[in-house]
Amino acid sequence: MPDAARLYALRCEYAPNPLGIAVARPRLSWKLQADRRGARQTAYQILVATSLDALRADRADLWDSGKVASDQSLHVEYAGTPLGSSQRAWWRVRVWDENDVVSPDSELAWWETGLLARSDWRAEWIGGALVGGPRTSVPAPYLRKTFGVEPTNPIAAARLYVTALGLYEFRINGRKVGEDFLTPGWTDYNKRVQYQVYDVTDLLQPGENALGAVLGDGWYCGNVEWRGRQLYGDRPKLLAQLHLTHADGATTVVVSDGSWTTAYGPVLEADLLMGEAYDARLEMPGWDTPDFDADAHGWRPVQTFAAPGMEIEAEAQTAAETGVKTAMELSAMRGPTVRATQEITPVAPPKEIAKWPLPDYLFDLGQNMVGRVRLKVKGPRGTTVVLRFGEMLKPNGTLYTENLRTALQTDHYTLRGDEAGEVWEPRFTFHGFRYVQVAGYPGKPEPDAITGVVLHSDTPPTGTFACSDPLLNQLQSNIDWGQRGNFVDVPTDCPQRDERLGWTGDAQVFIRTAAFNRDVAAFFNKWQQDLADAQSEAGAYPPIAPNTNVVGADGGPAWADAGIICPWTIYLCYGDTRLLAEHYDGMKRFVQFLVETKPDGPPFPHRRGGWSGFGDWLSINAETPTDLIGVAFLAHSARLLARIADVLQKPEDAARYNGLADEVKQAFANRYLTPAGLLAASTQTACVLALHFDLIPPGSRPQVVQTLVSDIGKRGTRLSTGFVGSPYLAHVLSENGQLATAYALLHQTQWPSWLYAVTQGATTIWERWDGWTEDKGFQDAGMNSFNHYAYGAIGDWLYARVAGIDLDPDRPAYKHVVMRPRPGGKLTSARATLDSMYGPIVSDWKLEDGAFVWNVAIPPNATATVWVPTHDPASVRENGQPVAGASGVDFLREEDGAAVYALASGTYQFTAQLPLPSPS
Ligand code: BGC
Repeated sequence: MPDAARLYALRCEYAPNPLGIAVARPRLSWKLQADRRGARQTAYQILVATSLDALRADRADLWDSGKVASDQSLHVEYAGTPLGSSQRAWWRVRVWDENDVVSPDSELAWWETGLLARSDWRAEWIGGALVGGPRTSVPAPYLRKTFGVEPTNPIAAARLYVTALGLYEFRINGRKVGEDFLTPGWTDYNKRVQYQVYDVTDLLQPGENALGAVLGDGWYCGNVEWRGRQLYGDRPKLLAQLHLTHADGATTVVVSDGSWTTAYGPVLEADLLMGEAYDARLEMPGWDTPDFDADAHGWRPVQTFAAPGMEIEAEAQTAAETGVKTAMELSAMRGPTVRATQEITPVAPPKEIAKWPLPDYLFDLGQNMVGRVRLKVKGPRGTTVVLRFGEMLKPNGTLYTENLRTALQTDHYTLRGDEAGEVWEPRFTFHGFRYVQVAGYPGKPEPDAITGVVLHSDTPPTGTFACSDPLLNQLQSNIDWGQRGNFVDVPTDCPQRDERLGWTGDAQVFIRTAAFNRDVAAFFNKWQQDLADAQSEAGAYPPIAPNTNVVGADGGPAWADAGIICPWTIYLCYGDTRLLAEHYDGMKRFVQFLVETKPDGPPFPHRRGGWSGFGDWLSINAETPTDLIGVAFLAHSARLLARIADVLQKPEDAARYNGLADEVKQAFANRYLTPAGLLAASTQTACVLALHFDLIPPGSRPQVVQTLVSDIGKRGTRLSTGFVGSPYLAHVLSENGQLATAYALLHQTQWPSWLYAVTQGATTIWERWDGWTEDKGFQDAGMNSFNHYAYGAIGDWLYARVAGIDLDPDRPAYKHVVMRPRPGGKLTSARATLDSMYGPIVSDWKLEDGAFVWNVAIPPNATATVWVPTHDPASVRENGQPVAGASGVDFLREEDGAAVYALASGTYQFTAQLPLPSPS
């Protein structure tokens, strides 16, 4: 009998041991590990208990699922006794495998609920007295409170529930709570603010304790985009509640209220776009410890603020059902927080830039990154060091900052004059940069005077892609860096200029690639709520979420459609049916809105009256009509909604939306297809959308493919697509017999192309194909970001087609993996890995010694269909032996130049004799 499977990676709502779960029926997932082929789960049993001891003793006093005959190992809903607020549930799972052998019990895991009722919140919003203006900021308030803990009844457990309107750094007895930054994150604060929960047991002590908080302006009242400050409110505020459980079981709660005191300290300005200014001479040593004499230092009582109509999630849902409009909701954090994930040191000693009266110094970190720097400096008290940040250099070797528009992204540090030297790192700002220009530095800085600290939403890495072409490997690195830098609580367009907004179109085009590189399920669960919060009464999804209303309520084609495309993609990649269910009504309202706002009669030329969106944004010398894009995306969204209705088992809705999609498809053909079967608008993007969204009759497809290929040819094997067409371009080519053209575009190094920027030394994805060119220099500085992930959407094709890891929409989350590498172009090898929710998937091929050699791994409890490219299926071997008889492998058919097999889980090596069949 083979070994039993081992269980690992227990997750609750995507997180290991999460604090602050607010859903009533959290979903539990686990992975299996086994060293044999065909390992799979046939049954599971979950035990959930109120305490560790109970669970250890097998007393499942909250829930015993019993042995459930099922292969489900993802998203099993908790169905035990409902939990109250602040309650911990311990759980473990065992599974039975294909031989009905039971696994050893998993490790013990837990989740803990947040504050589930409005009445649990007893704290008040507090803040400082100073108020800035639309352009003027004021220093960051420091807040503090002390309290005593009876040494005879010490603390057994302590939880901090905390949030801010603005940003907070919370401290207890001199130490920062948690490792998160830019908390509580960005939501539409008129509607919702997230709170975080921390286990702070270890930070407390018997006797006197001190709580402290520093508040930054953040998105709440600092600069957002280019319109100035105070988008949501006039000053930052804190809401905090510390729950203490004592050794004797008694509980006490310390809350933010009028008993706290406040002062202004060294943080003179803290703004996400402008930067941070810190005067170390104004530090108040010990302010966050119990010994500090606040009175002597002039601390004053805080201001308290009326609750801005706070509602708690569950109650707000009820209110939504009853139609009563709720004000701001307090939501438990759903996505990952922003953390510092890496440090980067300069690649060369700082360069001196002559300036009067003192030189500036330029540091090159070698990587365009997002975050901030740690400064090391020693010098006279009162010296101010100024740090400026930029992504590129001008021809004269100085910092290029024109593309920042009004965002100053400048930090100031004024020395206290410490003889031992000083180290400073800002905490309420972030910058997009590769270069740092330092002015006013006392003396000549050492190379380690600057360290880059990389910040982003801490989405765990899940994917790798590498191949035999170093340029493509750099492209992959650029894509991932673009993702890291722009996933900062919301998916943003760029991290440097006065924008940094959650543009919906950008997120929609990139999400599939993002889900290869990193686990973005929880991140997009959170953002889908931002989209829902921003949906208009009429049903429109916005251009930006959270919506700052700089453009309006309707995102237009390919932007608004993010409201459907993003949850659908998260469903495909992670099997998240609940996300679909939760937002289903919103999606229906959206499609209804599109239908209702079309002018009379087909073919829906301007689905939103005068507003037809951003078109194929930043395309090159090719104008795709905006109405064509609108009709195409209406068909696409209607079709996806039909599929979503199917998943949610709503057959009538599915029929209705399929009907709508068919109707729009017909309208598309009537309007845009000539009698000769050609597209009336023949841009690359028009062809790509028509083909990818299946909008034209089969008989017309070959002509449209031909139009596309000849347009690419006419442009010297170059693309002309913008944000909308680019993500599908290579897919359309490889799916329609034009693999060679897809590779020719991929390898192209002249602009416009994916590799042009790489050949120019780019370390992130540029906003524009021609952000900088040899002949023209910099593009218009008004819109020229060098860290915009949208064109990184090619990453999906690298993983899914070049390496060949794809999914089966009918068995999502890679329950059934479709492995079909498409070797071609200059490549002699490619390798991708994806740590899926079932475990690691590997596709690793090379052309070697006259053979195609392909290593494949499929995780337990998943299966695969693999396509081995070959002329001669009889030549295919597995692990050196003829395939027939190999365990776990079943021949299915020969198709399209490949031998196709069904695979059980496990690791395999296939070989097939070269030459490869000609690509189709
Ligand atoms: C943003 C884009 C966005 C676009 C919409 C730009 O300013 O940077 O990424 O999608 O506006 O037009």
